[in-house]
Amino acid sequence: MERQARVFNIAVIAGDGVGQEVIPEGKRVLDHIASLHGARFQYTDYPWGADYYFQHGVMCPPDFLEQLRPADAILLGAVGHPKIADNVSLNGLLLPIRRTFDQYANVRPAVLYDGVQSPLALRKGEKIDMVVVRENTEGEYAQVGGFLYHEQPEEVAVQASVFTRRGCERVIRLAFELARRRNKKRRVASITKSNAQGYSMVLWDRAFAKVAEEFPDIATETLLVDAAAMNFIRRPESFDVVVASNLFGDILSDLSAIIVGSMGLAPSANIDPSRRFPSMFEPVHGSAPDIAFQGIVNPLATFLCAAQMVEHLGIPEAGQRIERAVAKVLSEGRVRTPDLGGKSKTAEVTEAVIASIISAG
Ligand SMILES: NC(=O)c1ccc[n+]([C@@H]2O[C@H](COP(=O)([O-])OP(=O)(O)OC[C@H]3O[C@@H](n4cnc5c(N)ncnc54)[C@H](O)[C@@H]3O)[C@@H](O)[C@H]2O)c1
Repeated sequence: MERQARVFNIAVIAGDGVGQEVIPEGKRVLDHIASLHGARFQYTDYPWGADYYFQHGVMCPPDFLEQLRPADAILLGAVGHPKIADNVSLNGLLLPIRRTFDQYANVRPAVLYDGVQSPLALRKGEKIDMVVVRENTEGEYAQVGGFLYHEQPEEVAVQASVFTRRGCERVIRLAFELARRRNKKRRVASITKSNAQGYSMVLWDRAFAKVAEEFPDIATETLLVDAAAMNFIRRPESFDVVVASNLFGDILSDLSAIIVGSMGLAPSANIDPSRRFPSMFEPVHGSAPDIAFQGIVNPLATFLCAAQMVEHLGIPEAGQRIERAVAKVLSEGRVRTPDLGGKSKTAEVTEAVIASIISAG
């Protein structure tokens, strides 16, 4: 008797700009990989984002979180439009999802694949293979504050950071567990600024020191965020897992994304490790209005997100298969989009990745 396919319900928000281009390509790869692993993805597409905003004055309907809650995972393209203030698009859709579904770890791998040119002058044979784990639910993005004398000459803005011991410890612990699971350099770097931020970052440092005691087999280092920015350029090969607050992780993970060749190669997962809520998988890049709807956006970051998603859903072999196919297409160098110096169209890259999955058997 034929075994029943495992069905996963995926909530899909393609969003804006290139998000609308990369998500259909991501589904093609997912459907292909599912058929090889006795699984099936059932998608529910939500037309939220800028177009919805222009029609309704909000990025999504008021019950959007209730609609997303039953999904097994959320796949998101990108959100943002030149005619909508970025704080509206971010706070109106993305940040509430991350916070309400307690997706407290934003996991952003940065791998320099063979055949891809880093903008850095690396020594021969030097590899970049790191993961930035960014705290995703509190810190500097907690949205606590306000304006006084709004839009008057004497206007004052107050924006508070919120650091809780629980929030720091849990994301730091996840970073250590990841370093163990990756079993590569077995090292965690903590990013701080406790020389200038004498409360929040001191709490962060203490949480790091305490959690580190639980992982005597993992090496540690603590870097001020400014030194970390410098060292991402000077010695990127030395990093394994990097754990940082919301703001510092946001900035450093764009840096780690670009030193491995292109924003079009950087995936990210917003994880609720407790699995009470759906986790969300989205490329690091935004809606890239400068190249949108020309058929040239690089879909590989979305495929690597798909790999993270299937791993999270319990099919790690499928995730590894996608990543191997992406690596192969990059190392062959025949099919690549303009951000990587090629001339290929987005759909050609998808076809090459699917062909590579098939040929690997
Ligand atoms: N998670 C998100 O949805 C997210 C993240 C970042 C920015 N944004 C939003 O996206 C909009 C544009 O932001 P931005 O221009 O600062 O950042 P961006 O990531 O959209 O683009 C930065 C640069 O990288 C290029 N690029 C990005 N992704 C690419 C890909 N897959 N293939 C090839 N080239 C790619 C773009 O062409 C652009 O030159 C803004 O509204 C911003 O708020 C959204």
